[in-house]
Amino acid sequence: MHLSVVGCGYVGLVTGACLAEAGHDVVCTDIDEKRIAQLQAGEVPIYEHHLDKILESALKAGKISYTSDAGDAIRKGDAIFICVGTPPKENGDADLSAIDHVARQIATEARSSKLVIEKSTVPARTGLELRRALTAYSRNSGLTFRVASNPEFLREGTAVSDFFHPDRIVVGVEDENSARDMREIYRPILERSFRCPVHNGTCPAGSAVDLLITTINSAELIKHASNSFLALKISYANVIADLCEKIGANVEEVTHAMGLDPRIGTQFLRAGLGFGGFCFPKDLQAFIHLAGTVGVDFDILKAAERVNKQRIDKFFDKVRQALWVIKGKRVAVLGLAFKANTDDIRFSPALEVVRELLRQGAQVQASDPEAISRSKTLYPAVAYHEDPYDALQGAEAALVCTEWDVFQDLDWERAGKLMARRLVIDGRNLYSPARMRELGFEYYSFGRE
Ligand code: UGA
Repeated sequence: MHLSVVGCGYVGLVTGACLAEAGHDVVCTDIDEKRIAQLQAGEVPIYEHHLDKILESALKAGKISYTSDAGDAIRKGDAIFICVGTPPKENGDADLSAIDHVARQIATEARSSKLVIEKSTVPARTGLELRRALTAYSRNSGLTFRVASNPEFLREGTAVSDFFHPDRIVVGVEDENSARDMREIYRPILERSFRCPVHNGTCPAGSAVDLLITTINSAELIKHASNSFLALKISYANVIADLCEKIGANVEEVTHAMGLDPRIGTQFLRAGLGFGGFCFPKDLQAFIHLAGTVGVDFDILKAAERVNKQRIDKFFDKVRQALWVIKGKRVAVLGLAFKANTDDIRFSPALEVVRELLRQGAQVQASDPEAISRSKTLYPAVAYHEDPYDALQGAEAALVCTEWDVFQDLDWERAGKLMARRLVIDGRNLYSPARMRELGFEYYSFGRE
């Protein structure tokens, strides 16, 4: 099938690359001409495991192409994925102006009827508005535009694997033909007939993937409801951690045992600095806002948001207690990305830590395997080091902010010799408190003694 992808950000690139790898002909477009030129030259503008490999092979095989001519891209696709940004507005609502802009482009540039698939995360009812806009902008053209909602459940860092091995594929449609087309687009994934770039063709046996056909409103709601629930779960674990500190219990023992109940599940119960990234904080806000507009008070989500915002303060209570005065102290920050295996620093709790340290006059020495170049432009006053041991040199404290494996595997005996003081404040609960104390460290983490 000929597919167009409008918007070559994170979601657009992963979607385009994976669908090309699965056998479709994909043309991608973006208003950022520099990005298109980069992609045409074979450069991958984001860090995502496996993405460079599949983009390279798809480009070589002629399965993917890039153009800054949106009209050309729109005309080439039987189905068009809209993957543009929906950033939050001041009031928490999603800014849908990019979607509206693309709707106008599709309606005016198309020369044949199209299936328009909303992939960007949007509040419920956006699909219906999109259809209305397409109809209005294409008045008298004689073309028809069908609309589908196909929310993505990709996690940064494992997005390619998530695309090829999804838990579920959700498709919101208004008619049988759209359902049939969506099934055709995802047929290689449903039938597992693709050559998996993650497992080199030898995927572990797994149960068949479900393609869930719903209404457009439901599909949109499923996305926000899922992300908000996961955010809620993390905040719940964080409150349990606070309680453990007061009562003298261990949050890992508690959440591990809770998670063994399949009704609860073990994932997303890791306590620490809280959630960040471009999805959870903004989706939570948008969902609360959406509920408010229809008169439903989503108090539990407001509480989850509040709990999350307080994590940085709680972390700094620990830092202050351990260091007393922060001003003038040399402090190592391990981790800048909002989570491991990504270079994304948007709404990163680690960067909030950096900002607060700088505000209080600390000398910050930071390390991160992928996020240094992005952080440099935001915080040029920080001394950045590729090697975490260089960041620890002469530091009076190490603040662990992102759960990268390289930090998990650090040799603290070696690090201790480099540091001015053996003090670790761990915002991600990466180490055993007993082991750290054995090594002569003063060690603080969340919800553990
Ligand atoms: C999230 C969802 O997990 C995806 O399913 C969804 O498709 C995506 O948003 C999206 O809407 O596009 P992502 O933002 O990549 O994916 O990151 P997550 O792995 O979900 O982590 C989010 C944040 O929660 C990170 O800051 C992470 O450190 C934090 N977290 C996660 C915890 O603090 N504790 C946990 O137990 C798990």
